[in-house]
Amino acid sequence: MKQDMIVILDLGSHENTVLARAIRALGVYSEIYPHDITVEELKALPNVKGIIINGGPNNVIDGVAIDVNPEIYSVGIPVMAAGHDKALCEVKLGEFANDMEAIKEAVKPFVFDTCKAEANWNMTNFVNDQIELVRRQVGDRKVLLALSGGVDSSVVAALLLKAIGDKLVCVHVNHGLMRKGESEDVVEVFKNQLNANLIYKDVTDRFLDKLAGVADPEEKRKIIGGEFIRVFEEEARKLDGIDFLAQGTIYPDIVESGTKTAKMVKSHHNVGGLPEDLKFELVEPLRQLFKDEVRACGLELGLPHEMVFRQPFPGPGLGVRCLGAITRDRLEAVREADAILREEFQKAGLDKKVWQYFTVVPDFKSVGVRDNARSFDWPVIIRAVNTVDAMTATIEPVDWPILMKITDRILKEVKNVNRVCYDMSPKPNATIEWE
Ligand code: XMP
Repeated sequence: MKQDMIVILDLGSHENTVLARAIRALGVYSEIYPHDITVEELKALPNVKGIIINGGPNNVIDGVAIDVNPEIYSVGIPVMAAGHDKALCEVKLGEFANDMEAIKEAVKPFVFDTCKAEANWNMTNFVNDQIELVRRQVGDRKVLLALSGGVDSSVVAALLLKAIGDKLVCVHVNHGLMRKGESEDVVEVFKNQLNANLIYKDVTDRFLDKLAGVADPEEKRKIIGGEFIRVFEEEARKLDGIDFLAQGTIYPDIVESGTKTAKMVKSHHNVGGLPEDLKFELVEPLRQLFKDEVRACGLELGLPHEMVFRQPFPGPGLGVRCLGAITRDRLEAVREADAILREEFQKAGLDKKVWQYFTVVPDFKSVGVRDNARSFDWPVIIRAVNTVDAMTATIEPVDWPILMKITDRILKEVKNVNRVCYDMSPKPNATIEWE
């Protein structure tokens, strides 16, 4: 089905993505394009019903004032200028301070009355369209997907399963740094419930051997990322006749930032670094979606709520929460304490409120007392933060009784631990993760 589209031209405003999301929330599809789009490029886009020129006071880039190509005014598509002096219809988005509801109200008359756009953007239509498109792109050939269990790759897997069934081959690499039960959930949902063609590789020993004695956080990241690609590559080479690589690229990966006004479309590779001779065409069915839309798409496809609303989890996993050189006993302590924290946050309803929460185990011990004897064990640090974009973050003021319950359980249930601390530091000066 052809959906109507409102094109946003980027003149360096920070509100581009908020504006696009607001228009989509009205049920009309919207995409962001560079300010200097040509008339030909504009005409080649399907079903454009209106154009919003969105530039704040910053439309001077590198000392050069930038403006749209004046020819776009004569294409015959309604144009609205939001917030600069060429305003045909003055909407000061900045004044709304990213208030989605206010922005929706402000653009509604333009979208529906002036442009006569139809509100036909919804997840059911999106999923059906993508299934059609993927079937057309892939035909009888096969698609490979690195299924981490994160929101994006899980939704891609569910969508491709609907579209092409067993022509999708998923590889789940368990690097031993996953949270408790996470790899098992991926196997349960995709292999057992959805009958996906899933290759499960438990390479815990291989990763932990490579990481043994490595204390530098960046070195750890490099080893984990590099080894992940090698395992994935080994599996890809074992398979015959794969032409496509599916990726969970989403719209923010493509837009990058509202201030990027030059050629802005840049491919973002979640599985970057594969060798040149492994040539795949890309299948990226989520490339139009914002994160909240990806979640809505996952629900539409019937994925479990916990999988769709999973909190962000770093690629290097618990590897950057088991500080310094990773040892199996401390890794186990991080994993068990994290599972307790997640369980108690869920019971208290905090899992729906707090953006990211986890445990950290540092590589030093302290003296304690257990069963009337001296102990010398690791501390567990609890961290719970709220943020919009992960650039800055505030801590969650967790109620004392909840923290005491979690502390009690960690001290009773987690081996080799004798102390629990709560991290009070916002970002900045701290970062969200400890490494
Ligand atoms: P920081 O610690 O930089 O984290 O304040 C910001 C957000 O990014 C996540 N994070 C990572 N994600 N690979 C990832 O995929 C990484 O190496 C990595 N390091 C941090 C972090 O969990 C937080 O959500």
